[in-house]
Amino acid sequence: MKEMLENIRIEAEKRIAEALTPEALDETRVSVLGKKGELTNILKGMKDVSPEDRPKIGQMVNSVRDRLEASINEKKQSLKAKIIEKKMETEWLDVTRPGVRAVRGHKHPNQIALEDLERVFIGMGYEVVEGPEIEYDRMNFKLLNIPEDHPAKDEQDTFYISRHDESRGEKTEDDIVLRTQTSSVQARVMLAAGRFKETSKGFPERSLPIKLISPGRVFRSDEVDATHSPSFHQVEGLVIGENVTMADLKGTLDQFAKEFFGPDTKTKLRPHHFPFTEPSAEVDVTCFKCHGTGRVKKMVEEKENGKLVRREVEMACTACKSSGWIEILGCGMVHPDVLEMCGINDKNNPDAPVYTGFAFGIGLERVALLKYEIADMRLLYENDIRFLEQF
Ligand code: DAH
Repeated sequence: MKEMLENIRIEAEKRIAEALTPEALDETRVSVLGKKGELTNILKGMKDVSPEDRPKIGQMVNSVRDRLEASINEKKQSLKAKIIEKKMETEWLDVTRPGVRAVRGHKHPNQIALEDLERVFIGMGYEVVEGPEIEYDRMNFKLLNIPEDHPAKDEQDTFYISRHDESRGEKTEDDIVLRTQTSSVQARVMLAAGRFKETSKGFPERSLPIKLISPGRVFRSDEVDATHSPSFHQVEGLVIGENVTMADLKGTLDQFAKEFFGPDTKTKLRPHHFPFTEPSAEVDVTCFKCHGTGRVKKMVEEKENGKLVRREVEMACTACKSSGWIEILGCGMVHPDVLEMCGINDKNNPDAPVYTGFAFGIGLERVALLKYEIADMRLLYENDIRFLEQF
């Protein structure tokens, strides 16, 4: 028995010494010391050994196992060290090499313009509220005084998601559209704040006064050209309270234009028509290029007696078509019928407070194009990095 154990030991030591990888070493360990290993087999055979010899043989097995375990551990360490040594030789890094510069993205000009604009209105105490892009006809049109047969609802303008055909006797709760204007948020907010307390997802009940802007994407069935796109962005503004007047509207928009386009900017209101405001106006700002004069100075090179000479000439401003003014938004005092339909005022209740308010709608792309002097709206959507990197 002693001899057998010694043979196992010698054979195992040899295999340990020859092992080149941790896997080979582990195989040896399992085949000798493992559950079904040679040494374990001997222990299992102890039942055939006479009881007097058992402690002695047990001791011998243990001593062989201890020695083999020690050899295996020693070899394991040396193999590990060798692996690390090899790695150090092959896997090295030149820390003096210049790094690879990570390309950093940056904000899109539309986003820069939006954040600038929001900063101005937040500074005046406005809250920013967003509404859904897929909207009920009622919010986008009906409650804003745009009745069923209004040309603004024409299928050429509006993307309908679901539409019932009354001539065929079809009835649905409401048509669903891609909103054509952010003015739809006016209806939702007024419904949530007025006497109806009509709330909908994302528009919990609120109280008066209202003072908000609502930026977002709108959709119209338009052909793409330098100033049109089927999808663009607006920023709606709405203020409702007691004694809100047209002077407040004018002052607010003038302040906005000065902060957004520069302190020298002047504004003027031109009478216009919108169904949901009365009176309504469009607002023009002085042209950023000619500062309202309608004329710009330009250096030109001309030949004079065979020589090239540079000369300053005055010419018509193309940015404003020499008018000196550029239109940037629509606005007005919220129409009394809208205030009534949305539950802000109640004409049948003589004791109810009477509210007034103003609204405005800014075309985000329009002001971004003006502010950054971009000639073509399509550039904003084409994702050409050479263009976008300039902002
Ligand atoms: N919703 C209008 C449009 O898309 C813009 C507008 C005009 C909004 C006047 C307003 C407003 O809130 O008072 O053309």
